[in-house]
Amino acid sequence: MEHLRYHRGALHCEEVPLADLAERAGTPLYVYSSAAVVERCRAVESAFGGRPHLTCYAVKANSNRHLLRLIAAEGLGADVNSVGEMAMALDAGFAPSMITFSGVGKRDDEIAFGLEHDILAFNAESEQELDVLDAIAARAGRRARVLVRVNLDIDAGGHAYISTSLKQNKFGVSRENVLAALRRASTLPHLELRGIHSHIGSQILKAATFRSAASALAGLVGEVRRAGMPVHEVDFGGGFGVQYQGALASPGLPDEPALRPDFSFASVLPEVMDILAPAGVAVSFQPGRSIVAEAGVLLTRVLYRKESGGKTFLVVDGGMNDLLRPSLYNAYHQIVPVRLDGAAAEEVDVVGPLCESGDFFAKGRKLPRSVRGDLLALLGAGAYGYVLASNYNARPRGAEVLVDGASWRVIRERERIEDL
Ligand code: LLP
Repeated sequence: MEHLRYHRGALHCEEVPLADLAERAGTPLYVYSSAAVVERCRAVESAFGGRPHLTCYAVKANSNRHLLRLIAAEGLGADVNSVGEMAMALDAGFAPSMITFSGVGKRDDEIAFGLEHDILAFNAESEQELDVLDAIAARAGRRARVLVRVNLDIDAGGHAYISTSLKQNKFGVSRENVLAALRRASTLPHLELRGIHSHIGSQILKAATFRSAASALAGLVGEVRRAGMPVHEVDFGGGFGVQYQGALASPGLPDEPALRPDFSFASVLPEVMDILAPAGVAVSFQPGRSIVAEAGVLLTRVLYRKESGGKTFLVVDGGMNDLLRPSLYNAYHQIVPVRLDGAAAEEVDVVGPLCESGDFFAKGRKLPRSVRGDLLALLGAGAYGYVLASNYNARPRGAEVLVDGASWRVIRERERIEDL
């Protein structure tokens, strides 16, 4: 978290005091550090030590066009989940030959758009999708490059809503049926079968989980080849976890217990490459969260303090419509004061203004005593933050700001009442 630090008691993103940004651009406000995004792109790329590979940033994590441009300029590809994300990626400068299209429910027009732009590959999720891809490619007079997504039935841990690779999840083709699906893909005339894809889940904290997935995929590659079908590529997916807890020491507060992945890009990616190396396939990855999460904070201002039922509530001006993760996944985001004033710590619930009990950012959290007007920063808000925001309660969505050294600019305007 080098891009975030306290200087004379004021929290800065790079060289910019966050309190100034809140003053000038209002709250709730998403603030991203361009240096942090670039650093993560370079960390992922340098982890491969020059070995051939392809990294496709999972656009769903944050699709702000200015962040996409930054990531495209670093030479990454893009993994998209909708025609909207595909159009955004193309507009941001990602080469079509570095765009993969994942997603369990691709519409006909979305497939046609991908074919028209000759994207690198479609990651198909069912036999029926293969038939549809073939038919649309035939109409377009093209051949679609496809990978078949396999559901490896691996428990990646984490919240049930972000686990993707258990038998009961909707994603991919089950291990039992995957050979049949690949057979079908290899016989359909307008498809070019390229290989297999898997994405085992998100916010995975243990390297061992990735090693299991890599071994399972290496085994499957052998099996597919013995069955007489080609496998040129393995798309390993994303899921690399980040540190949401205890990432920034906040003077005056007891250190929050740190919960972080037991790996870095530099340790885990070479391990996965080594396990897959004997299979002799081209390997690609789709990290989303691990590129952008730690680069972003959500700034919110305390509206009210209230004591009720033996608790202290801080009612802030951001809510579940701005950052849904705590409400939807009971997700933890570290919260720190933007200005340190030496106030004693107290235990509070940080809640939003929406008419839902599920509208909270934190429960039973230790924070220095805050009063009306104080600013709080929610860390780790760069991924699955703004992209999950809504207009619930007819609340205009907040603005997004990109910091670069001592300068900053609004990269998405705050919505106005008229926009509703
Ligand atoms: N590839 C595929 C096919 C995916 O479905 C996903 C995420 C990724 C890559 C990127 O995964 P990442 O590296 O970001 O973990 N909204 C949830 C996370 C949902 C993840 C959906 N798929 C959250 O806020 O935790």
